[in-house]
Amino acid sequence: MITRVIKVDREEPQADLLKPAAHALQQGGLVAFPTETVYGLAAVWDNAPAVKKIFEVKGRPQDNPLIVHECCRENMPKYFDSWDEVADVLSRAFCPGPFTLIMKRRKGLESPAAAGLDTIAVRVPSHPVCRKLIELCGKGLAAPSANISGRPSPTNALDALEDLNGKVPYIIDGGSCDFGVESSIVSWTNGKLELLRPGGISAEEIEAVLREHKLEIPLHRPEKLMLSEGETARAPGMKYRHYAPKATVHVLSGKDFASKLSSLRQLTEKKELGSKPSFYISKPLAEAFKKALPAMAAEHPVITFSDEESHAEAARGLFAAFRSLDRLGVTDIWAEEQEKNRVGAAYMNRLLKAAAAKKKDVKNAE
Ligand code: TXA
Ligand code: MG
Repeated sequence: MITRVIKVDREEPQADLLKPAAHALQQGGLVAFPTETVYGLAAVWDNAPAVKKIFEVKGRPQDNPLIVHECCRENMPKYFDSWDEVADVLSRAFCPGPFTLIMKRRKGLESPAAAGLDTIAVRVPSHPVCRKLIELCGKGLAAPSANISGRPSPTNALDALEDLNGKVPYIIDGGSCDFGVESSIVSWTNGKLELLRPGGISAEEIEAVLREHKLEIPLHRPEKLMLSEGETARAPGMKYRHYAPKATVHVLSGKDFASKLSSLRQLTEKKELGSKPSFYISKPLAEAFKKALPAMAAEHPVITFSDEESHAEAARGLFAAFRSLDRLGVTDIWAEEQEKNRVGAAYMNRLLKAAAAKKKDVKNAE
């Protein structure tokens, strides 16, 4: 199959350029497309054979459900068994945007996207290209991230092409994604509100909205990255390998700048950085690294983000950095630890999962 990359204007996507892709979707085909979080791989949500093809193309386990993408908030309730104040308040606050809501699936609503669960995940992306594509299609789109299972999610069209060339007819190029990490997933079932995956919307923001509306419901947060054997997954994706580049990922940890620099020194002295190390670190740390260990810093690839506090920027570039460094043939990627508040939580969640991937014998997932 020939894969065509269709470049469209991010702000005012040209309908005539998107129509062939929308038509392919309506005919049961798959299309990769940009969202504000990461690129997705779409099929029309209620076309069962098309949705099943997504699992095949990605090599994704059948028991790992997909998110349905809708073009507007008003279309969300039709997927669910009921729609209450919590759903209303959260969706008004965060949709459109990087926010996914999981609730009990409406009876009789069937799609392989739900992977047999009695719940379903729905979100309304804010990316103009994605919304236009859904509109032209006239149907919600079931879509996971557009990577081969286990690999880092693509955050630009070329990274999507790297994984999907020859496997889908169209990849829509709407530029680089704003967030670079996937949506925050919130489950609201059986009276329990749970943040299953941190993302572009932080736990603090969700709690603030609940407070503002006097909804006294605790938001449970994920603590574990992987499940032990025999445990049941609330987010089925939790039990699989994630976000892993070919190189081994390590967290360059330290409670502050000085301790991170001292870790770098020690690792260099003990020759523990790997045979072809590379770095994803803040500019000030990169500068200090250059001064302290000029030979090491000059010899090996370093990708930077502005500073320790630039959580959003670090998250935006993480997966793209993984993929660029892989293309350079490095053996190890050392990525700087960040505080786990706000978007830093999403960055650390992806980084720790990528770092765990090589250590554990876990299967590919997303
Ligand atoms: O930002 C995003 O959410 C991106 C873009 C493309 O929209 N999508 C994405 O999809 O990250 P995916 O499939 O790579 O990750 C979705 C996660 C998986 O871990 C899956 O297990 C979980 O959502 N999930 C989906 N439906 C679920 C459900 N009904 N119950 C529990 N977890 C669910
Ligand atoms: Mg994924």
